[in-house]
Amino acid sequence: MNFAPPQTASSPETLPPSGLPEWEGEGSSRIPFWAYTDPAVYRRELDRMFYGNGHWCYVALEAELPKFGDYKISYVGERQVIVVRERDGSLNVVENRCAHRGVRFCQKPRGNARSFVCPYHQWTYKLNGDLAGLPFRQGVKKDDGEVQGGMPADFDLKQHGLTKLKVATYNGLVFATFDHDAPSFEDYIGPDVLPWLNRIFDGRKLTILGTNRQRIPGNWKLMMENIKDPYHPGLLHTWFVTFGLWRADQQSRMVMDSEGRHAVMISQRNAGGEARAVTEGVTSFKKDMALNDARLLDVVPEYWWKGPTVTMITLFPSVIIQQQVNSLSTRHIVPSGPDCFDFVWTHFGFEEDDEAMTRRRLRQANLFGPAGFVSADDGEVIEFSQAGFRQKGAEGSTICELDGRGVAPTPHMVTETLIRGMYGYWRKVMEL
Ligand code: FES
Ligand code: FE2
Repeated sequence: MNFAPPQTASSPETLPPSGLPEWEGEGSSRIPFWAYTDPAVYRRELDRMFYGNGHWCYVALEAELPKFGDYKISYVGERQVIVVRERDGSLNVVENRCAHRGVRFCQKPRGNARSFVCPYHQWTYKLNGDLAGLPFRQGVKKDDGEVQGGMPADFDLKQHGLTKLKVATYNGLVFATFDHDAPSFEDYIGPDVLPWLNRIFDGRKLTILGTNRQRIPGNWKLMMENIKDPYHPGLLHTWFVTFGLWRADQQSRMVMDSEGRHAVMISQRNAGGEARAVTEGVTSFKKDMALNDARLLDVVPEYWWKGPTVTMITLFPSVIIQQQVNSLSTRHIVPSGPDCFDFVWTHFGFEEDDEAMTRRRLRQANLFGPAGFVSADDGEVIEFSQAGFRQKGAEGSTICELDGRGVAPTPHMVTETLIRGMYGYWRKVMEL
């Protein structure tokens, strides 16, 4: 499998000479199309949302790297990093870029190593990113004793390691940041969203069930929006509305952190009655649709649900954590230019699961992933959105005004408040 993303990062030459566009008007309920398409805006986003300003980005699950030396390639924004397990059990995250001539030296997506050696001139790095040594540092001694070449006498190995990221592990999740002044991960997530993370990640050991990857030709924020948008699931997704997994009359709650950047959509299946208004005139509702294999929806309640059957968590800017009945996944957003992102799904369960539960989680995972009965719709509609923005040009904007123009947690799902929350924050950090 090819894990490398396309090299389509916008270059400075493509920036408009006038700099960044102006966001006219107040608030965050009308998002200009250029927020999704402009290369200069995108460059500032990478710097502020992914590489700086105290943002933590998801890079892995600990269960992917159980043993000393286990590593995987991951991303923070467009920058490729290596997540690796140290001898003492801790995790390092270092940038996959040689200090010598900038080579992306590690090419295997996963493996086990005691050190990293760049293939070009064999500079060798410890697992923590320190430069351990390099060939011909003292030059080459000829037979007559004369020494040729070598690095300058003041060349200091300690000054030339890999770029090291600050790392946070949280009950099996691994996050990293280039910003060494970032707040603690717990402070970053905040007290409103953290309990919902704890509900799934309470310290139980995770098991990895599989991964999918897809490339979606749309702006990365559209994926965040999609999972902050409880308006669409009961309308876009035939599967959800027909089989009752997500209906607008379900008992629901929208939670967000104090900044408006992280959120949780919480809902409980079949707990809100069966209002006809929810399916009447909804063209995606297929009354007569039935499953050939009913095991796809063999839902078994779990003790840790404590009510909700669905929690969709968006941790800005890089990851979505999905619990939809018995199916669990992390979905890593890897931006690649303003018009494209890679979406990496890791489906997981718990070590305490019996074989039947593991099979069940795997069967239900068919709803999700690139070709999932539900998620294929989202990938497609994001592509359609980006196409629409390009068609209209810079002068238009989206409308996110369901349930008003303000930003507040809500006790129902007939709202676009979480999207407004994210763009309120985005606008502030971007200074637009
Ligand atoms: Fe890596 Fe020269 S570029 S050793
Ligand atoms: Fe969706």
